[in-house]
Amino acid sequence: MAEIKKVAVIGSGVMGGAIAAHVANAGIPVVLLDVAAKEGDRSAIAKGAIDRLLKTDPAPFMHNKNARLITPGNLDDDLNLLADVDWIVEAIVERLDIKHALYEKLEKARKPGSIVSSNTSTIPLDKLVEGRSAEFQRDFVITHFFNPPRYMRLLELVVGKKTSPDVAKTIEKFCDVNLGKGVVHCHDTPGFIANRIGTFWIQQAINSAMDLGLTVEEADAVSGRPMGIPKTGVFGLVDLVGLDLMPHISASLLSTLPPKDAYRDIARDVPLFKKLIESGYTGRKGKGGFYRLDRTGGAKTKQTLDLVSGEYRNEQRAQLTALDASKAGGLKGLVTSDDKGGKFAWAVLSATLSYAADLVPEIADTVHDLDEGMRLGYAWKRGPFELIDELGTGWFADKLKAEGKPIPKMLAVANGRPFYRVENGKLQQLLPSGDYADIKRPDGVLLLADIKRASKPVAKNASAQLWDIGDGVLCLEFRSKMNSMDADIMAMIQRAIGTIGDGKSGPYKALVVYNEGDNFSVGANLGLALFALNLAMYPQVEEMVSGGQQTYKAMKYAPFPTVVAPFGMALGGGCEIVLHASAVQAHAELYIGLVEVGVGLIPGWGGCKEMIVRHQQNKKRPGGPMPAVGKAFEIISTATVSRSAAQAQEYLFLRDSDGITMNRDRLLADAKARALELSKDYKPPVAPEIRLPGPTAKAAFKLAVDGFVASGKATAYDQVVSDALGDILSGGNTDITEIKTEDDITALERAAFMKLVRNDGTVARIETMLETGKPLRN
Ligand code: NAI
Repeated sequence: MAEIKKVAVIGSGVMGGAIAAHVANAGIPVVLLDVAAKEGDRSAIAKGAIDRLLKTDPAPFMHNKNARLITPGNLDDDLNLLADVDWIVEAIVERLDIKHALYEKLEKARKPGSIVSSNTSTIPLDKLVEGRSAEFQRDFVITHFFNPPRYMRLLELVVGKKTSPDVAKTIEKFCDVNLGKGVVHCHDTPGFIANRIGTFWIQQAINSAMDLGLTVEEADAVSGRPMGIPKTGVFGLVDLVGLDLMPHISASLLSTLPPKDAYRDIARDVPLFKKLIESGYTGRKGKGGFYRLDRTGGAKTKQTLDLVSGEYRNEQRAQLTALDASKAGGLKGLVTSDDKGGKFAWAVLSATLSYAADLVPEIADTVHDLDEGMRLGYAWKRGPFELIDELGTGWFADKLKAEGKPIPKMLAVANGRPFYRVENGKLQQLLPSGDYADIKRPDGVLLLADIKRASKPVAKNASAQLWDIGDGVLCLEFRSKMNSMDADIMAMIQRAIGTIGDGKSGPYKALVVYNEGDNFSVGANLGLALFALNLAMYPQVEEMVSGGQQTYKAMKYAPFPTVVAPFGMALGGGCEIVLHASAVQAHAELYIGLVEVGVGLIPGWGGCKEMIVRHQQNKKRPGGPMPAVGKAFEIISTATVSRSAAQAQEYLFLRDSDGITMNRDRLLADAKARALELSKDYKPPVAPEIRLPGPTAKAAFKLAVDGFVASGKATAYDQVVSDALGDILSGGNTDITEIKTEDDITALERAAFMKLVRNDGTVARIETMLETGKPLRN
């Protein structure tokens, strides 16, 4: 298999630019070409795209320095830049004649054997390669990214009849391992998987909401959490994607779908939507869409479009019996609820799930491919076949029959059996042949979910479990609500330390801390803390602080290695466990930070101590104790959170030696490999000697915060919290001639923490966070 070391992207528009940025995120140099500008700098279009990418939010780059990996150019003067490129991605306008003309040029300019792919959403592969040489056809595939490419995990891969298997394998591996995409094989059919089903679903939901008289809020409340589609709901999603895109996608599907396709029966032009688009109401990128913020009179009011009158009115909370029915009875409770909410849910789901169940094996080989497509491309929590399984295939088929509706192909194949089952601890899926087959994971993919199906935990309590993940490695999984840290998790870490022992004489030699929740951990359980504070149980609170400090210290100095594998949010106490790991293997999408000040606290489980040591040992910054603690103070006092693992390295939440995994599904395997590597010749770290500046630093911190308060950037209570933080980071009553131990610093953390929790300002911040999820600016 060839290796991809250099990439080119042609077309620097919405998709091309962002694909180039994501290739750069993988550390791969990339050439970005667009048409030559008519006057001035001939490469201005591609250069302008890079400038635009640097300003886009959410950021296409994981770190701004990645922009340096992109070489901009133009298609008239710079085709020679393609001569050493291994993969050329075409992402130019969706017009066959223009794509054909470009391919003719590429045929001459590309390196023999290099891979060429198109990002087309709608043009069949067969048509794209018409008139091209046999070599070009052998090296050609469709790689369909989703917008925005950094964040949307799905990559639909279409392999042509003449594509060489080696080309398909090379591109699949690169997109999976290097770009972190979930690669799903699709057949060369209109809209591939996700847009085919997604467009049907959106249209059906809009039709049913209008026919059954639901408001936008009601339709979104039902289609959001209860159906497991992200909380935006369906109208919120259209606002996000852009109303103006919908008619284009619809028209393109209608021009290519088979004559009897069910989408043809539901496609509708809605005059109201046309009017919205024409007047600039295209969604979040325009003046608003189904939702908008009204700014008249200075205040911001959330407004919603009334689907009947076409006027905006203030947002109304949805109140439907179906929502309660879904809480009590799950999906079945929702779709059988008698009110319009239940009728809407059934109308949308019965039609969409039937549509999907009729499309296997036409658009992809397996039901699992369709489920992956909808999960990764449209952020559904469960794919269509998982949803049918939840209702029961037999129940679903009976209800369709009772309504005189046809039974879709795969539902007939299932004949009452589920689409997924567990056999001998292995997850299996139902094939179109009627047989079941194991779901195979690519090499290097290890999922805790799979291990859990096939084994029992080594130990468990209410908030955590320990799993044997093979080869002598234990995995500690958080299982508390939002993976918040509590005494049970600390107890399980202690239990793991005891079970692994010296890492030599027993069955285990290393620990991995990992889970498969939405986020790694949102930090300490604030609800428990507030409960204790309301009862003035200060000794118990202090015990919680010192318990965490001791546990993390024991883990750091254990005779075996601990690899922590964070992803998504790793905040507060969830960040502090990362700081105490022997090594970290992080997912590239890591949002890590010490955010305690937001709830009127300071990092009390060794977070301040670790940040002091890391910043003091940092070789890239000027030496001396003052700049180091100054940087740590800045990061902690502003609750800085990284927007990627690469940025976490800059803040020293991660070390340069820590690993980064692009594909979420590969994180556990990579962490385990790291742990095994470290365990070979493992020695615990040597405790650092810490020298701190003392009162001079404290005074400097105070001066800085006073300045922020004076300019309105910090509040009065920020001053109180920063002051407590200053007590720790300055080292208290000391100077640089004195050597402090880690225990000295954690004692300072404890004292500052206990001072703050006795303060009403802190209690008010915790209460507000628990009630609203937002920090109180008191
Ligand atoms: P865009 O309109 O933002 O960008 C198109 C780019 O093509 C522009 O930079 C333009 O200068 C360049 N271009 C125009 N004529 C050209 C020519 N003769 N030769 C070379 N370049 C030329 O379009 P967008 O949205 O980035 O789409 C690009 C491709 O990606 C299309 O095939 C589209 O179907 C596909 N796609 C788009 C998605 C989206 O959400 N926008 C999602 C997935 C795929």
